[in-house]
Amino acid sequence: MQQGQPSRTALGAARARAFHQTEDAPHIFADPLAVTIAGAATAAVASTERPDDDGIPAEARLFLAMRHRFAEDALAKAAGGIRQVVVLGAGLDTFAYRNPYPDLTVFEVDHPATQAWKRDRLADAGIAVPAELRFVPVDFETGTLAEGLAAVGFSRTEPAFFLWLGVVQYLTPDAVEATLRYIVEHGAAAQVVFDYSEPPSALPAPHQPMVEALAQVMERLGEPWLSLFTVDDITAKLQTIGFDEIEDLDWRQMIARYAPDSPAADLVGGHVLRAAHTGHVEVLAP
Ligand SMILES: C[S@@+](CC[C@H](N)C(=O)[O-])C[C@H]1O[C@@H](n2cnc3c(N)ncnc32)[C@H](O)[C@@H]1O
Repeated sequence: MQQGQPSRTALGAARARAFHQTEDAPHIFADPLAVTIAGAATAAVASTERPDDDGIPAEARLFLAMRHRFAEDALAKAAGGIRQVVVLGAGLDTFAYRNPYPDLTVFEVDHPATQAWKRDRLADAGIAVPAELRFVPVDFETGTLAEGLAAVGFSRTEPAFFLWLGVVQYLTPDAVEATLRYIVEHGAAAQVVFDYSEPPSALPAPHQPMVEALAQVMERLGEPWLSLFTVDDITAKLQTIGFDEIEDLDWRQMIARYAPDSPAADLVGGHVLRAAHTGHVEVLAP
């Protein structure tokens, strides 16, 4: 991320979700606030810097729609047993503002510059901030999630669900590992849904140029991909850290589940994954 600047990829992701609401078929992920927040965010960017809608490849929009659908379906299944949801690297995600579950506190964690920018955009858009939402400004590279969440009343002894979409790629491996450890060391059942990309070198040769091109776009936006994983690497890491349940969908499995008739090109390399630790490991001091 560029020093002191809000995330540009957060804007891109929000615009992709907005575009998906009105233009894409099949319609996979319903987000009634996506168009409003993306509109306010786009208006706040200098007109010379506004991204072009056509610049968001259809496959990337489809991937975003499928990852959010997977995540919110998993959350819906868990919702009866949890009262805490943490949106890590929230960007312009709108779950907190359309949260349908009574008694669920949402903690939005993000880089301080992105979070401050989002709060201004929420005000521009007239989107009300629910009383049960807590903002947690944290830089995953320099700050600690534990301190940030403890300061706003997050309980380490009650079950929690973590959404971590579109973030892992942009963090250093150390920051990814520290966050996973924080989740697994939760003192009650915890689940996390995140997406990751495989390194181009692990993909079949015909798919490498598209993934390399996407990586170059992120680099130009000042948010290079820093952590990519093969399936074996991420599975081993999660198991070593202590997760005891892993559900990992690759592009083909996502397409089969959500868009079986889609003509979209095969975006090999993108995965969405749910990992849980169902037992109590150790209650750590915040
Ligand atoms: C591609 S956006 C995804 C935003 C949102 N989760 C979504 O799906 O639209 C990446 C997000 O990661 C956040 N991020 C990147 N590096 C970060 C860091 N070091 N600490 C905290 N957040 C970070 C950015 O602020 C941004 O909100």
